[in-house]
Amino acid sequence: MADARVIAVTGASRGIGAAIALELARRGFRVGCLTRGGRGPARGAADPDLARRLRAYPCDVTDEAALAEALRAVVREHGRLDGLVNNAGIHLRGPSERFASADFERVLATNATAVFRGCREAYPHLLASGGGLIVNIGSFFARLGVPHNAAYSASKAAVEALTRCLAVEWGGQGIRVVNVAPGYIETDLNRDFLRREAVRAQLAQRIPAGAPGRPEDVARLVGALFAEDIPFLTGETITLDGGQTIAY
Ligand SMILES: NC(=O)c1ccc[n+]([C@@H]2O[C@H](COP(=O)([O-])OP(=O)(O)OC[C@H]3O[C@@H](n4cnc5c(N)ncnc54)[C@H](OP(=O)(O)O)[C@@H]3O)[C@@H](O)[C@H]2O)c1
Repeated sequence: MADARVIAVTGASRGIGAAIALELARRGFRVGCLTRGGRGPARGAADPDLARRLRAYPCDVTDEAALAEALRAVVREHGRLDGLVNNAGIHLRGPSERFASADFERVLATNATAVFRGCREAYPHLLASGGGLIVNIGSFFARLGVPHNAAYSASKAAVEALTRCLAVEWGGQGIRVVNVAPGYIETDLNRDFLRREAVRAQLAQRIPAGAPGRPEDVARLVGALFAEDIPFLTGETITLDGGQTIAY
């Protein structure tokens, strides 16, 4: 069943963003894939039915003008914008006593400032479509004290705060904002770490679901949020971590 709605996804080249773009296309949405290389998810090209619904737009989310232009290009091509998934993110870690300010700022620029700008630049387009949904991809690290992860965790805490504030600010205009906070999901971001035997054994103990999640788990939740389109759901953080953060 085709859906006339149009959704932009940042960082849709690989990992969670690629899975989200494919899931949205599979559900019939038209998807603007905002990627640095100007290419959408590799698997999308192989399926003509999906390829028809996926369009790629070059965009480095830390480039303010490029982000605004990519969203305008999506609207020029499809005539509207109904949703945005702020997914692009980076993870830099290290002992805080030696963590360079430039690295701290790089993480915040990609994971937090670009999320704010994405929301702000999407706003007029969503308003023109009569409202819409923004899904930000946060992290369960936002609420944890994780050694060597001050910058990343702070950036994801900022995403939670942005989600709440924008949801309240724009709620009356039919624009909803939701934060999806994944736990461990195996992607390029952490593949080497998660493949260590000791880490796998430890996570098997700590995650009630028994193991890290897959990009498709996050994609299915995001796809459901757009498909179900629940008017009363906004400002909330939905944690998707196999029960890890609530486990006693
Ligand atoms: N994996 C996890 O366990 C986990 C857990 C919680 C939250 N998350 C969050 O989920 C999101 C996706 O992570 P992932 O695990 O899928 O990571 P990933 O496999 O490393 O993919 C990151 C994606 O972000 C894109 N990206 C990075 N910087 C960008 C920029 N400046 N402009 C445009 N695109 C940029 C990358 O594009 P290129 O291909 O151009 O590099 C890539 O598509 C991130 O926000 C991450 O913090 C991940």
